[in-house]
Amino acid sequence: KSNQMWGGRFAAGPDAIMEAINASIGFDRRLAAQDIAGSRAHAAMLAATGILTDKDAEAIREGLLTILSEIEAGEFTFSTALEDIHMNVEARLKEIIGEPAGRLHTGRSRNDQVATDFKLWVRDQLDAADAGLTALIEALLVQAEAGADWVMPGFTHLQTAQPVTWGHHMMAYVEMFGRDLGRVRDARRRMNESPLGAAALAGTSFPINRDMTAEALGFDRPAANSLDAVSDRDFALEFLGVASISAMHLSRFAEELVIWSSAQFRFVTLSDRFSTGSSIMPQKKNPDAAELIRAKIGRIFGANVALMTVMKGLPLAYSKDMQEDKEQVFDAADNWMLALAAMEGMVRDMSANRESLAAAAGSGFSTATDLADWLVRVLGLPFREAHHVTGSLVALAESRGCDLPDLSLEDMTSVHSGITAEVFDVLGVDNSVNSRTSYGGTAPAQVRTQIARWKEILG
Ligand code: ARG
Repeated sequence: KSNQMWGGRFAAGPDAIMEAINASIGFDRRLAAQDIAGSRAHAAMLAATGILTDKDAEAIREGLLTILSEIEAGEFTFSTALEDIHMNVEARLKEIIGEPAGRLHTGRSRNDQVATDFKLWVRDQLDAADAGLTALIEALLVQAEAGADWVMPGFTHLQTAQPVTWGHHMMAYVEMFGRDLGRVRDARRRMNESPLGAAALAGTSFPINRDMTAEALGFDRPAANSLDAVSDRDFALEFLGVASISAMHLSRFAEELVIWSSAQFRFVTLSDRFSTGSSIMPQKKNPDAAELIRAKIGRIFGANVALMTVMKGLPLAYSKDMQEDKEQVFDAADNWMLALAAMEGMVRDMSANRESLAAAAGSGFSTATDLADWLVRVLGLPFREAHHVTGSLVALAESRGCDLPDLSLEDMTSVHSGITAEVFDVLGVDNSVNSRTSYGGTAPAQVRTQIARWKEILG
């Protein structure tokens, strides 16, 4: 038996394999609420413009509400033969209200319908990401404020570089997630144009009102070109691009948490709530959440590459290839939201080990740059010479198995005769971080300025 939605010119129904490759209902049922919202807006507009009678529009409205509650209650039977969510809903509407159901699709195509549904879904996810990123930033601000003046080693090449503050390190991630938040908001603004009414590709001869449906669905305006409206998925790609960058940031932070929570570092203690044990090694407390967050970039960026590849080379307007957009975006969205929530929970719960951070901050000749700067400032040495002198002192300390502040004044003057006892004032880590007062620097006063700025931004 041929398809009841489009089977007029067909004598035979599809092969089972055809049905299997064609159907999207297995995943696009997630668009049910958006599909029904879009149909309600479309039906109301058809009535307002006189294309549909008020009586039919009312029957459609009530039928759609019934279907929505059936779906929400898990009582709806989805059919693969009906391909996708759009035809599943419409077929059920016909069962419930009869003939008027067949009038709903006037001036509309599944092409503008699916673009509208999917945009509404992606828009919700951008709003969820907005909330998730905001909550994560707030959790980081709490950490930063508590340890605005706690010293820790700052690294380059994962080798001790210069002392920084815990607050400064936390605030570095606030900046990154803050830019992710900005990208989320930009993407939302750009994508918020309604495809509905573009119909199959060319628009429609019915006197529809696209402003009305756009407004009813919370879009800023109707999309200005019907070909573009049904055939681009750049809104989904931008979502995946933003998600990929954000997942990359999450992954870097997660990596730091994995390193920091190791027995060798002991910079942070993760809570029991965000750790797991080993089935054989009784002592283990593993940072699995951090590891999984670190890994999520794999599938999210994979989705980005997959959909980009699906879209490249597609001629205008709609091609069925585009049905492959949804699973990628669903999976990426689910995992991005999960990673954001898990990271927020981990950050809220974790405690920084102030003593371990301080001990590590003072090791590894972390104040060597301060010593070189002192030679420049006080003795007037050119920086290159000061760098060399300090390097010799580091080598001397290393051969003694001690740190720079443990060298005697005689050791110092043996390398450069001009060095005086005042040099020891700059070899402490607190002095080091307190001195870095340039805008955006690690000095606690600078860190507190940035915390205050972010609190104001978040309101
Ligand atoms: N399930 C389809 C999709 O996800 C809906 C649009 C189908 N349109 C069409 N002309 N076959 O893209």
